[in-house]
Amino acid sequence: MSHILAIDQGTTSTRAIVFDGDLKVAASAQQEFPQHFPRSGWVEHDPEDLWSTTLDTCRDALKKAGLEAREIAAIGITNQRETTVVWDKSTGKAVHNAIVWQDRRTSDYCRQMRDAGHEAMVTQTTGLLLDPYFSGTKLRWILENVNGARARAEVGDLLFGTVDSFLIWKLTGGASHVTDATNAARTLLYDIHKGSWSAEICELFDIPMAMLPEVKDCAAEFGETQPDLLGAALPVLGVAGDQQAATVGQACFEPGMLKSTYGTGCFALLNTGAKPVASENRLLTTIAYQLDGVPTYALEGSIFVAGAVVQWLRDGLKIIKDASETQGLADQADKGQSVILVPAFTGLGAPYWDAECRGAIYGLTRNTGAAELAKAALESVGFQTRDLLEAMTADWAGTDQADGGRSVLRVDGGMTASDWTMQFLSDIIGAQVDRPEVLETTAVGAAWLAGMKAGVYPDQAGFAKSWARDRRFEPKMDEVERDERYAAWKKAVAATMSV
Ligand code: G3P
Repeated sequence: MSHILAIDQGTTSTRAIVFDGDLKVAASAQQEFPQHFPRSGWVEHDPEDLWSTTLDTCRDALKKAGLEAREIAAIGITNQRETTVVWDKSTGKAVHNAIVWQDRRTSDYCRQMRDAGHEAMVTQTTGLLLDPYFSGTKLRWILENVNGARARAEVGDLLFGTVDSFLIWKLTGGASHVTDATNAARTLLYDIHKGSWSAEICELFDIPMAMLPEVKDCAAEFGETQPDLLGAALPVLGVAGDQQAATVGQACFEPGMLKSTYGTGCFALLNTGAKPVASENRLLTTIAYQLDGVPTYALEGSIFVAGAVVQWLRDGLKIIKDASETQGLADQADKGQSVILVPAFTGLGAPYWDAECRGAIYGLTRNTGAAELAKAALESVGFQTRDLLEAMTADWAGTDQADGGRSVLRVDGGMTASDWTMQFLSDIIGAQVDRPEVLETTAVGAAWLAGMKAGVYPDQAGFAKSWARDRRFEPKMDEVERDERYAAWKKAVAATMSV
């Protein structure tokens, strides 16, 4: 029983990975599922797709690893955060599609709440902003718009959960309605200081508190799977939202350590230790992980479009067939052109938080072609990361823990395979970028949480020691060029914003 099964339920695909006793990948399986865009700015998933791909990939990964379920010591779950599911307690059927984190349908309501002066209280309590990104206003939308939902929620027939919570409920046959502190911290309903749901905010949004799951540590007993699902009753012992799991997987356990993950979006987290740091630069304060009842906090910068910009080159513009072609194309770009792409396809996240603006391209000439657009797309990821790091450095400098310098940035996620993108990132942020040997950082984080709780993997210090670097990128761009290019980006963003 020295293997761990990690489930990584992401925005565009679900993966299951079997790790051996040395935290090495033994086998993995992946399935994509449909994205639903019922209206402009709306993004939904069918909860049954999230569930069926989870079950299929788990079975497939076990088969590929040549293992029986009883050889698995525990399951760790990590998931797309904020995505909101409401389901019937007796049937397990969702009452509406899951409303995905990218969905902007509640932006008017968020604006009304901000105009009514509620943002300060919400931010102080949750560390978040009144933005449609988070679960709370999505949950409210379901209660307001699905026929009979509010009445059923009020009599206790409906349950709310982020994706981890929904999957655990399904895996345990309805026995556990639980989540972990990192997922709770993304709902806009959780008091990150007291470690409990906020009655004040639930009242403000008109959300019956009986719908909310019990909140646990990241390494805890979340329940046992129904034996018939995977072939044995397996304990779920680790849960963390995907960005927090990546923070754990990157072993960012010391205050001041920083990671950035490049998936659909990009999410940078700075470990701020036992004390939550209130941002003065429009970043989020969140829980990095919670072990033994003790939360470790983080400052988070979230940008909505990173890998998604490469998908757009492939599926929208059709100028590449495969993501791996992008850097070759970027290399061929005419150096004399300065095309800037602001990929605000679904608005802008941190530090701008502009839900209404949309993407723009600047500096087009008659000679601009696929190569220049590919280069601008990859560079937009570096520029946006610098925006986040500027804000983080300013917030962190104001604390008594700051060491003065900017930390090395540990990176992970699909886009980090591109040396071109990582070199530009290092150049434009003017700091070292470390790419780890194991790029499965998110799944590693979830597996380690579960395996540590099961007694299969070492403690935090032992795990941190095993973190190994594949490559370090050093900044090569001179400072004048770096500053000029960043100033041009800032100008382009200012011209794109809606206010
Ligand atoms: O906050 C959203 C984030 O958790 C989604 O991550 O990797 O599924 O794009 P990803």
